[in-house]
Amino acid sequence: MLKVIRYSSLALLAVVAGLWAWAWVSRAPGESVGEAFAQRLAGVFGQQLPVPAAGGGAGGMQLPPGISLGGAFSLVNQDGVAVTERDFAGRWMLVYFGFTYCPDVCPTELGTIAAALDTLGPAGEQVVPVLVSVDPQRDTPAQLKDYVSRFHPRLQGLTGTPEQVAEAARRYRVYYARAQRPDQSDYTMDHSSFIYLVGPDGRVRSMFRPDTSPDAIAAAVTGQLRSGSRGSS
Ligand code: NI
Repeated sequence: MLKVIRYSSLALLAVVAGLWAWAWVSRAPGESVGEAFAQRLAGVFGQQLPVPAAGGGAGGMQLPPGISLGGAFSLVNQDGVAVTERDFAGRWMLVYFGFTYCPDVCPTELGTIAAALDTLGPAGEQVVPVLVSVDPQRDTPAQLKDYVSRFHPRLQGLTGTPEQVAEAARRYRVYYARAQRPDQSDYTMDHSSFIYLVGPDGRVRSMFRPDTSPDAIAAAVTGQLRSGSRGSS
């Protein structure tokens, strides 16, 4: 029986990975990989995986049974201090992978996280907002420290070696890649753009696609905090 469960989770993982590749290849012009992925995922898992309409009031995308995102990481915070998932154990987190040179999407999503925490009020203090850089080459701790302070006083900015960042991204199934536009001298980063709600055990409980409203995220966090305190964790 355990073997059956293990194989079926492997199969699910394979489906998700395949969908991500499919979304990447088949997305419409102008459509982000994240958006395309969410649509393909919804198409395959149907009722199991409700995807809120952009800006809608639903509780985010629930992970299908057998899929586990999040877990261990080893990174460096904006003060240059080494941190791992154990430093956040017992706390809820809203995690976003992005980079400080991002012209538009990252600032928008980080603003959304900050607004959601404001909406939550005192309950929001149980939640640690976290930005993990996918551009460790330029995002030094000092660069992150200046950047995160513009969004929220408690926003943590994490970076590391390219290998550390790659490992953290792998655990969250985050896609990112360096991109050089012909009309620009500086490179940019393509990256998936989900906000992850992480439980006290370090595992992703819910994920939010780009353009989810702060109110929808706040409502989902409230629901998870309630069920989290009722549950065994
Ligand atoms: Ni970005």
